[in-house]
Amino acid sequence: MNEFFRLKKFLKYQWVSKTKYYLHSPFVYQFYLNVLEGEMDEQLKAIRSLRNELGKSNAAIKIEDFGTGNSRQATIAKLETKVAVTEKYGTMLYYLVKYFHPKNILELGTSIGISSAYLALANPSARIFTLEGSQALADIAKTNHLQLGIKNVEIVTGDFAQTLPSQIQLQGQFDLILFDGNHTKSTTLNYFNQCLITAGENSIFIFDDIYWSEEMQEAWLEIKKHPQITLTFDLYQMGICFFKKEKLSKEDFVLRY
Ligand SMILES: C[S@@+](CC[C@H](N)C(=O)[O-])C[C@H]1O[C@@H](n2cnc3c(N)ncnc32)[C@H](O)[C@@H]1O
Repeated sequence: MNEFFRLKKFLKYQWVSKTKYYLHSPFVYQFYLNVLEGEMDEQLKAIRSLRNELGKSNAAIKIEDFGTGNSRQATIAKLETKVAVTEKYGTMLYYLVKYFHPKNILELGTSIGISSAYLALANPSARIFTLEGSQALADIAKTNHLQLGIKNVEIVTGDFAQTLPSQIQLQGQFDLILFDGNHTKSTTLNYFNQCLITAGENSIFIFDDIYWSEEMQEAWLEIKKHPQITLTFDLYQMGICFFKKEKLSKEDFVLRY
């Protein structure tokens, strides 16, 4: 059911998305050049080589499921290939951090630390707080970050129900938030609403899997409509929101990536 929904949405995305040749706004054009056209470099190669290693590991770990309270088993290889951000979108995150220089970053959903590695290596002076419920996953993420020489990530373990409000209170403002923890409409909107208080004029919110299901698409449509959000980019796998106050009217772009 969700596969059919995603295919339909992907075909529509291919049809309506715009390449840089059709973009008139300088901000959007520069985003396209600097973030969507970034190429492989040494740091990205280091992440690729770690991912290749992880992708071959049949070590199984027990993970607590936050939706049901049950636990399940998964191999590291499966977490690397099926759960972690793809290399393509990880590269996008990396160049986005390089381009906008967010200093205080929050991520909901660490898993084995792949997306946080892209965020961290892009700017070693940024501070990244990443939230994860499973201690077993957090431990693997820590080892992976160590292997990549990453020192600017703090993994906060526990249920988002507790860790999100406490990080919001502790940090106050985030320049970038990556929402990749729970792909249901109500939780996505709940986390979004909680995080709004942390957003400044230059903050960026990124939502993963905006076409994962009809529910997620509904959440994305509601987020786009929020009065504080003035500009959005739909990249199909991820949706990006800006809070720029100088924009007089809201604009939503579907960018070919
Ligand atoms: C899709 S994975 C994150 C993938 C990661 N961002 C990456 O690309 O490498 C989502 C993670 O969120 C965690 N999670 C989901 N709901 C949670 C909750 N309520 N509290 C804490 N962690 C949660 C899961 O354990 C899972 O590891």
